[in-house]
Amino acid sequence: MTELATWLPTYLPIIYFLTSSITAAPATSSPSNVAQANYGVLLDAGSTSTKLKVYRWNQTTGDSLVPRIDLLANERFDNGLGSFEEDEIGLVSYISSIVSRAKQDVPDHKQKSTPIYLMATAGLRYLTEKEAEVFLEKIQAVLANTTINPFLYKSSSITILSGEEEGVYSWIAANYLNGFFDKYRPENETVGILEMGGGSTQIAFIPHGPLFSEEYQAIVAGRAYQLYVQSYLQFGANAISQKVVYALLHGSLNQSEVENPCMLREDSRNTTLDDGRLILEKGTGDPEACLQILRKFLHPNTGQDCSPKPCAIGSVYQPSVDNLKFVATQAFTYTPENLKVVDDDKILHIDKLEEAAIYHCNRTLEQAVNESGMDPQYVSSDCLMGLYIPTLVTLSYGFNSNSTNIQLTSKINGGTVDWALGAMLVELSNSFGSPKFNYSIQCTKGMPAVTTGYNKGNHSTSLHSNHLQICVLLLSLAIVLRNCIYFDISKV
Ligand SMILES: *[C@@H]1O[C@H](CO)[C@@H](O)[C@H](O)[C@H]1NC(C)=O
Ligand SMILES: *[C@@H]1O[C@H](CO)[C@@H](O)[C@H](O)[C@H]1NC(C)=O
Ligand SMILES: *[C@@H]1O[C@H](CO)[C@@H](O)[C@H](O)[C@H]1NC(C)=O
Ligand SMILES: *[C@@H]1O[C@H](CO)[C@@H](O)[C@H](O)[C@H]1NC(C)=O
Ligand SMILES: *[C@@H]1O[C@H](CO)[C@@H](O)[C@H](O)[C@H]1NC(C)=O
Ligand SMILES: *[C@@H]1O[C@H](CO)[C@@H](O)[C@H](O)[C@H]1NC(C)=O
Ligand SMILES: *[C@@H]1O[C@H](CO)[C@@H](O)[C@H](O)[C@H]1NC(C)=O
Ligand SMILES: *[C@@H]1O[C@H](CO)[C@@H](O)[C@H](O)[C@H]1NC(C)=O
Ligand SMILES: *[C@@H]1O[C@H](CO)[C@@H](O)[C@H](O)[C@H]1NC(C)=O
Ligand SMILES: *[C@@H]1O[C@H](CO)[C@@H](O)[C@H](O)[C@H]1NC(C)=O
Repeated sequence: MTELATWLPTYLPIIYFLTSSITAAPATSSPSNVAQANYGVLLDAGSTSTKLKVYRWNQTTGDSLVPRIDLLANERFDNGLGSFEEDEIGLVSYISSIVSRAKQDVPDHKQKSTPIYLMATAGLRYLTEKEAEVFLEKIQAVLANTTINPFLYKSSSITILSGEEEGVYSWIAANYLNGFFDKYRPENETVGILEMGGGSTQIAFIPHGPLFSEEYQAIVAGRAYQLYVQSYLQFGANAISQKVVYALLHGSLNQSEVENPCMLREDSRNTTLDDGRLILEKGTGDPEACLQILRKFLHPNTGQDCSPKPCAIGSVYQPSVDNLKFVATQAFTYTPENLKVVDDDKILHIDKLEEAAIYHCNRTLEQAVNESGMDPQYVSSDCLMGLYIPTLVTLSYGFNSNSTNIQLTSKINGGTVDWALGAMLVELSNSFGSPKFNYSIQCTKGMPAVTTGYNKGNHSTSLHSNHLQICVLLLSLAIVLRNCIYFDISKV
């Protein structure tokens, strides 16, 4: 039988950072001031591509505490930054092409005062601390060259984000787009966030009850919010599919084929595992067997291993989601759409999704394509995700299966809920502040967080270790916590 992932308890009481209150722009600004637009450039460096985002905002006017930020450019450049680790010439031309594209959206006279940020996520997390340091220096040298980069650049503008930071930024973005920060409102009007990428999945919210661990402090417009944040590294949409295959292999190293109950009958595919092996998966379309595998990955510990209590996945602590409202983005949204269980209100009906998935998984590939006109390439992943999402949110996160508190959407009021928007808001609001800052610095060091993936047998043990140092700048008017040094090493 397969063995459940062993989770070592994670302990990270981390003081998180940022945002000052916005002191700029009294309502009496002259008309030319009001029309004065400001810009910000952000490079989101992922594992397979870098996304360029150019934002524009006006000084705030009237009562709003935060400016409205528009996304002017959102362009993808193939190949992750990581692929240039050993190729300096390639790195220069890659960054140059991205910067040139950004210049098209920012007027010449504004470029020198427009900040540029490079934030790496999964793309660079696999580097060791030393490798990351060396590589970041190379990137810094390119961005510091004013012939290549006309934008305002500081060495602190390049960071590697942890999964938890992504979660906090997405939480800020969701609540910002909801208008929560427009004026002072009670904390219980914030929404929590559930996001799922290929590799990891994040949950972030302000619990009603006490918060014993995994606490991050986000300071937005001068007010501090105590968030619970957790990022599960091997629980993204692609990662969970691999975990299922590893579970089905029962630790066998010579097997090249598995029968997969989470795929539809008659469907098959070749999968390259992250240890390099090629496995032919053949669907048996057995939703109950698939659910059993998922429950083993997802069930919370209740005994001594779980401290503080309660736990979500394995021994990972999570306070109750109570009756809080959540927004679920990215890979949470696709399968419920494909299985046609979402109405206009975008509410995730957890029961309905599981029921639809059980029906869907129990079809043949041809039936699913015939009956529902689905793309044959994705039918089996809708089977897996249709079972995975309900199990994750009920068994692990603790939502009632009849809950209507999760809304499926990646957009709120026309803006995309992503960490990039939250990160930009935080960075930009630092620059809104008054020059007369009085600040002190406080640093806290997080304990290493180690999680091991499915590790029955002699493979697929992924060790993730966070080692970070976060510094806090306390300003007189507002409090700005700045991330001073940050490394995140993830080695497989
Ligand atoms: C900024 O102000 C200009 C002129 O008033 C307006 O056209 C533009 O839409 C505003 N942009 C934002 C992001 O508010
Ligand atoms: C800056 O980049 C230009 C163009 O690639 C190059 O010619 C120049 O030597 C670089 N300057 C420095 C200081 O590296
Ligand atoms: C928020 O809390 C206030 C008082 O603490 C209460 O009156 C209000 O109903 C709560 N709102 C929600 C959405 O829970
Ligand atoms: C795989 O190895 C086991 C012993 O380690 C052996 O019993 C089995 O026959 C092998 N299977 C294949 C398909 O080679
Ligand atoms: C999987 O790979 C094998 C060998 O390369 C090939 O014969 C087979 O057609 C592939 N199957 C699928 C479903 O891609
Ligand atoms: C699967 O489909 C068969 C008919 O094709 C049906 O008899 C069976 O009850 C279904 N099983 C589930 C779990 O829905
Ligand atoms: C799917 O549709 C094709 C063409 O319309 C038909 O020949 C086939 O019998 C259908 N298969 C099923 C399982 O309904
Ligand atoms: C949802 O389920 C819970 C527990 O099973 C129950 O207490 C609650 O009344 C149900 N709510 C609705 C709206 O059905
Ligand atoms: C700066 O901040 C410190 C600590 O908050 C405070 O003691 C000090 O009086 C402040 N200085 C000024 C000039 O505001
Ligand atoms: C695990 O695999 C490594 C090589 O990947 C091998 O050296 C080691 O002996 C294996 N250990 C066991 C217990 O099979």
